[in-house]
This record gives sequence, C-alpha cells and structure tokens, in this order.
Amino acid sequence: MIKISDLRKDKKKNKLVMLTCYDFTFASLFEKEKENIDMILVGDSLANVIKGEDSTVKTTLEDIIYHTKAVRKGAPSIFTVADMPFMSYQISVEEAVRNAGRLISEAGANAVKLEGGRDFSEHVKAITRAGIPVMGHLGLTHQWINVFGSYNVRGKSSDESDKIREDAKILQECGAFSIVLECVPEKLASNISQDLEIPTIGIGAGKEVDGQVLVLQDMLGMNDNKFKFLRKYSQIGEITRNAIKEYSKDVKEKSFPSKKESF
Ligand code: KIV
Repeated sequence: MIKISDLRKDKKKNKLVMLTCYDFTFASLFEKEKENIDMILVGDSLANVIKGEDSTVKTTLEDIIYHTKAVRKGAPSIFTVADMPFMSYQISVEEAVRNAGRLISEAGANAVKLEGGRDFSEHVKAITRAGIPVMGHLGLTHQWINVFGSYNVRGKSSDESDKIREDAKILQECGAFSIVLECVPEKLASNISQDLEIPTIGIGAGKEVDGQVLVLQDMLGMNDNKFKFLRKYSQIGEITRNAIKEYSKDVKEKSFPSKKESF
C-alpha cells in the first residue's frame, strides 16, 4: 500500500493511478490488480453512478460510509480515499473533523477528500491535525453546481486561474497530502504541479500532473458519457447487453439450464 510519507519524494518518479470504486465485487478485482493501482476513491460521484441522481449533492455521509465499507472488504490492501459529501464539512470545522473521523474509523478509509480551497483551510488543518490525511479538490467542484450553474472547464480566465493556483498552495500549507485538479486547462494544471511538493491528480487536466483519476463506470464504457477527457478502456455496457440478450434467448428456447446445469 502506498505511504503518504513517500508521496512527496516519489512525486517526480511514478505517475499515480487512481480510480473510483463503490462496491465489493469491483474492489475485489482491483485487489487482484493491486500492482497496477495506487489509490481507490469512493467518490461522491456515486450519486450519479450508483443512485441514478443528477448531482453529487445527493450523496450523503451514510452513502459514503456504506460503500467505503464494501470497498475495503474487497480491496483491503489498496489505499482508499473516501469523499466528504455535500454538507458533511461545509457547516463547521467541528462537524468536518467529526465526519472525517467516521469515514476513517467506521468506514475504514485511509484518507478523505474534500472540495474547495482557501474557504476550507481551517477545515483541512483541523482534520489533518486530528490524524486524518486530506486530499484537496480544485477546479470543477461539483458540490458547487447550484452556485456555478454549469460543469464547464474552470480556470480559463486569468483571475480564476490565479485563484485556483493560490488555493493549491494554501491547501498544501494547510497539510493536504495531494490535490485533485478537475477540468482545468493543461497549462494551469502543469503550473500547479510544478508549484507544489505534494502530488496532483488530474481528471480533465492534461498529462502534466502527477497522476490521473477516472470514474470506473465511465472508463469501462458502462454508460453513454462522452467527456472530452474520457478514454474508454472497455465496452462493458455492450458486453452486458449482449449477455442479457443471449441469456434471454436461452431461457425462452429452453436451452438453459441444460442437463449438466441441473441437479
Ligand atoms: O466523486 C468523484 O468521482 C470525484 C472524481 C471525479 C475525482 O471526485
């Protein structure tokens, strides 16, 4: 399992590989590929991927605890980051520490991730002080969808780009061990990665970052998502549909179950 203490010194050596995961079955497959994956994220994207909601603000702390527990059972030796969902840390520093603590002690995560920059510097400091590693998340921060009103690329204007760059430095000073950069121009992500001693992990942030993260179901081709940054590494959606068709045909034609498949 990766060690937080090695991340700074290894920053320039190896790119970090991170994927989201929400359940035991997939986590068990990750565990078999543990040489090929550094970190799992139990993301608040589970609102979209697992619950069929239209926004990550619909993920609750109980959802993340439930799914992180399942993931840890399947992948006990992969460093697992649990997302702090909407309203689990925004209200107060005290609530942020308490809820981050539940993600570690009840759910079994190794670290937590939270969205936001300078506005949450006290939260990041306090959670880290309590012994919980914090991953930051800047750029497109889905939990603010109702304020921004769009999922567009962030940091295109120089004002916004400067703010994101400063926020990254602030998060590092506050103790964050790594930062996700989502949907920002490649140049900005590259500058931030050079500014920082801690690793950056990109999603839609180009290749000049220290690692990459994708949503598992997106990269497996299990849905119709077509983001510019997304590469599909499989067509599991199509494979599943074909399996359903074949099974249905076999049942209707009475070729399943066969004698060998019966008692
Ligand atoms: O919840 C999530 O899946 C995330 C990734 C997009 C980084 O935060």
